[in-house]
Amino acid sequence: MTGKENAQRMEKIVSLCKRRGFIFQSSEIYGGLNGVWDYGPLGTELKNNLKQYWWQVTVRDRDDVVGLDGAILTHPAVLKASGHVDTFTDPMVDCRTCKARLRADQLSEKNGVKQCPNCGGKDLTEARPFNLMFQTQMGASADPASIAYLRPETAQSIFVQFKNVLDVSRKKLPFGIAQIGKAFRNEINPRNFTFRSREFEQMELEYFCRPEQGMDLLAYWLKERIKFYEEIGISRKRLHILDVPEKERAFYSKGTFDIEYEFPFGRQELEGVAYRTDYDLQQHIKASGKPLDYFDEETKERFVPHVVEPSAGVDRTVLALICDAYDEDTAPDEKGKMETRVVMRFHPRMAPIKCAIFPLLRNKEALVAKAREVQALLRPHMNVFYDEGGAIGRRYRRQDEIGTPFGVTIDFETLGEKGEELRDTVTLRDRDSMKQERVTIKDLPQLISSKIR
Ligand code: GAP
Repeated sequence: MTGKENAQRMEKIVSLCKRRGFIFQSSEIYGGLNGVWDYGPLGTELKNNLKQYWWQVTVRDRDDVVGLDGAILTHPAVLKASGHVDTFTDPMVDCRTCKARLRADQLSEKNGVKQCPNCGGKDLTEARPFNLMFQTQMGASADPASIAYLRPETAQSIFVQFKNVLDVSRKKLPFGIAQIGKAFRNEINPRNFTFRSREFEQMELEYFCRPEQGMDLLAYWLKERIKFYEEIGISRKRLHILDVPEKERAFYSKGTFDIEYEFPFGRQELEGVAYRTDYDLQQHIKASGKPLDYFDEETKERFVPHVVEPSAGVDRTVLALICDAYDEDTAPDEKGKMETRVVMRFHPRMAPIKCAIFPLLRNKEALVAKAREVQALLRPHMNVFYDEGGAIGRRYRRQDEIGTPFGVTIDFETLGEKGEELRDTVTLRDRDSMKQERVTIKDLPQLISSKIR
């Protein structure tokens, strides 16, 4: 695809997200809050499906990982020890012409001269570090002792609670602590829709191990994480693995892989998988004076564990799911004429609505009653949507556009009007192939459930 085609594709995606209720600009009626987004009804379902699946495979399906739900408000000492207070910065420059504040590493360049991407101005200030953390005040007095931060990553509460979790869970190395939650960064230049936001969610795992296991576990978790993206339906061909060169890694990391996705606006990071050695625990040991070490009952050794960290962005993965799912093909309209169909090809596991239920006609009481029965039958098993409005073809299109993988139509055959053998059967339509098969109502929960888990 050309740059122009990609830009058009992205425009269509952003517009669909708003039109169908996936993602809205936050505080839109007041002009919007830059870099902050609200998820609408469908976006919320999609995001929850993603987080639940991550939690299932990362925590519940494993014996060696437990969960944590840490606070967002963070003691400054934690972030001083982790290095965030002093070094969590991006280089910032000001454009003296249009007054824009810009990230020095994201300037455009013409004939080797750096220029402002907004106005093309070349009169730029020297770069200076800008700390990305949001600072707030706790309690009624506004003195320096009342400063707290909104966490810039979920990881630090895992390190700080390492000993408590170890004591209560009685896990042996290697084991992990997982967390899903909000993080906040005062990005200089939020952009590319939700890709770089100021408020976002992370899904992080800190997997603690013996030092000699670090490199093998780095390779193991990279493989696991790629598998995860495939399992949620992201095409492998759009995923890339970047082996981050030593000079670009954090100084304490012995190896880092970025998992990148080919968004319409370019190849960008979805997740970092990093071997962070024992840096974080050592920093907190030094700063707090508390022992955050591990005693190996078998070897009688006491040491500070090392850690491998797969750290993924919820919002970026949601955006990748949406970009990957967006497709256009052709399908016949009511009169059999071919028309363009927008279809979100979400993996059924991720789709916000799993099954739509349509009575063929809204003014036939028996059809509506049966359709409501089907809805009640499926509801305990999955998120369903009942729609009786408009021609059936139009109703299919509306569901295709939001990625509902299955549609059930209740028709006169269902009522037994075209032969007793068809009573209590319905048509089950597949979103992608648009093929319909006749199935018995009582088989629906099992049939659909097996495809959405
Ligand atoms: N604990 C390690 C850590 O936070 P990171 O690479 O800074 O590492 C991890 O962040 C992930 O969080 C990124 O790969 C990305 O998916 C997500 N993320 C980071 N900054 C973000 C932002 N401004 N907007 C949306 N997602 C972001």
